Amino acid sequence: MPFVLITGASRGIGYEFLRQYSSDAKNTVIALVRNKSATEKKVSEDAVLQGRPNIYILQADITDYNALKQAAADTAEITGGSLDYIIANAGLVPKFDLFLPIGELGNQPGELTKTFREAFEINVIGNVHLFNLFLPLILAGHVKKIVTITSGLADNSFTNQWGATPGALYAASKAAMNTVVAKFNAQFKKDGVLFLAVCPGPVEVGHYDGATADDLAAVEPLLSIFKEYSPGYERPKAPEVSVRMMRDVIEASSLEKGDGGAFISHYGNQQWV
Ligand SMILES: NC(=O)c1ccc[n+]([C@@H]2O[C@H](COP(=O)([O-])OP(=O)(O)OC[C@H]3O[C@@H](n4cnc5c(N)ncnc54)[C@H](OP(=O)(O)O)[C@@H]3O)[C@@H](O)[C@H]2O)c1
Repeated sequence: MPFVLITGASRGIGYEFLRQYSSDAKNTVIALVRNKSATEKKVSEDAVLQGRPNIYILQADITDYNALKQAAADTAEITGGSLDYIIANAGLVPKFDLFLPIGELGNQPGELTKTFREAFEINVIGNVHLFNLFLPLILAGHVKKIVTITSGLADNSFTNQWGATPGALYAASKAAMNTVVAKFNAQFKKDGVLFLAVCPGPVEVGHYDGATADDLAAVEPLLSIFKEYSPGYERPKAPEVSVRMMRDVIEASSLEKGDGGAFISHYGNQQWV
């Protein structure tokens, strides 16, 4: 009877995690979202998800410590005090650095500072508080897996080898979170908790919606890199495909196999695309 917590379950990859985990009636899925009523409405109007009795929706902005604390208490009420999986998927994917290299971001210093701070608050600090607040429940659970959704753009070898310039601030926040994952692993592996940072690969969730012709031209070199890096690559995967692959990786990974604190992709290795 696994209990699964998914953050950022309102849309995109998180919503697909919600759809897939809740498709198994044995799972109880807690969706942590910023706007509870909007997500409840979305689920109630979703022909596949509506009426699933194993879905609970809780509200917290991941930057709001007190709201997270309340969510941990509410989760304990639902589960009886334990939790098996955390899928820490909520994240800021800023538009500001999506198309421009870091040297050009410097032309807008105020926006650079603001976006970088937001990325750290959401993608790093929020998750640190989330893990600390929910760890007592995980320690009382059976499966004990805490998964962060990261990005291969945080792999410095990839950036250096392929000259991948976009997403500098975003990638730095994900790299910081990868280190946080390793530090949590260092402390809690003795308690049997597996921490993982898993990259979904490029996934189509609308991040390029509304992009101008100039934006698309700016991101074209990254797409060319993906094609050279991964011959056969054509376009981002559908969330359904990526989430299924990530779930397989999550199931297959274990402390016994040496996966504690690993930074890996939906392929289970460091092939990012
Ligand atoms: N899509 C890709 O190609 C890709 C590639 C690599 C990694 N990732 C990672 O995958 C994860 C999901 O991304 P996505 O592509 O599905 O993005 P998305 O469609 O933009 O979804 C982001 C999710 O995070 C939530 N969120 C953002 N800020 C939050 C906050 N302060 N508090 C609570 N929730 C917050 C959003 O909630 P609201 O609906 O309330 O805004 C939304 O549910 C992210 O960690 C992202 O970095 C994505």
